[in-house]
Amino acid sequence: MQTQGIASAKFILCGEHSVVYGEPAISFPFKQARIITTLKEIEGSEHQLISDFYTGTLSQAPEKLTAVKALIPHILKRYQCHSVLEITIDSSVPVGRGLGSSAVVATSITRAMLAFLKRPVISSNVLPFVNFSEDIAHGNPSGVDAITVVNEQAVWFEKEKGLQSLSLNLTLPIVVADTGIPSETRASVAAVRDLYQKNNIEVSACISQLGEISREIGKEITTHGDLHTVGDLFNQAHQLLCKLSVSSPEIENLITCALDNQALGAKLTGGGRGGCVIVLCKDKQHAQKMATQLSAAGAIKTWISMIGE
Ligand code: MEV
Repeated sequence: MQTQGIASAKFILCGEHSVVYGEPAISFPFKQARIITTLKEIEGSEHQLISDFYTGTLSQAPEKLTAVKALIPHILKRYQCHSVLEITIDSSVPVGRGLGSSAVVATSITRAMLAFLKRPVISSNVLPFVNFSEDIAHGNPSGVDAITVVNEQAVWFEKEKGLQSLSLNLTLPIVVADTGIPSETRASVAAVRDLYQKNNIEVSACISQLGEISREIGKEITTHGDLHTVGDLFNQAHQLLCKLSVSSPEIENLITCALDNQALGAKLTGGGRGGCVIVLCKDKQHAQKMATQLSAAGAIKTWISMIGE
């Protein structure tokens, strides 16, 4: 028997990093990048993993796959299954670019395994396993990536309160652009934590302001619907994220290009220090031109996402 699990990426509109400290974040599923995991039972004594990143026995997989290495036996043990598996991971989600690749791979594996184990493939069954894997991948994540990827809907998320679904009353024409520089969420979260400990007053103020920006963006996109205001708030959020030390020269290069080409606003998304930026445009046509400009400025890939359309 062969089973499959599919999961899409996510991007954070606002609230990355401050969400770790209890402030709200807004995040969306990003269907243009996804992972398909295919499973089948095999003869032998060792699970086999097949992926672009690594092919071989699961036990010998490199350190970067520690969370996957732990997740598979964890699920099998939970359901007292002794099967030996071949796991094939087919991914179009770039790794370490702030698009939630670790949560996406965990979700697609969990879905494929629950189907293999003949258990209901529903969010309430999937999420605890994805959170288990994310804890290993990132240390102490807020949970926003896991909840967005598993629930596949626009999310307002607060660490202590969990998820609220969002319904938009305007379309956000967004270009997601990849700097091509991989970044580790664990390292950027640790860098902010370090700053927070050294410079508590200033960093706490930044985090509160980021929280306030998320609340204002939340209001704008669900009620008034003024794209220019949302763009200004993107720019303010990006400046605060710079103060938290999570930008990089490659991110700044794409932000400058976006603003030079009449973006309404632009900011990094996810952990930062590499990864992707999101650029708010006036409409789809502007987004198409923007994507071309960002590629010319060095983005290795761009995607256009008409959120709320
Ligand atoms: C990573 O996509 C988002 C961060 O806020 C980390 C987290 O929420 O766990 C940087």
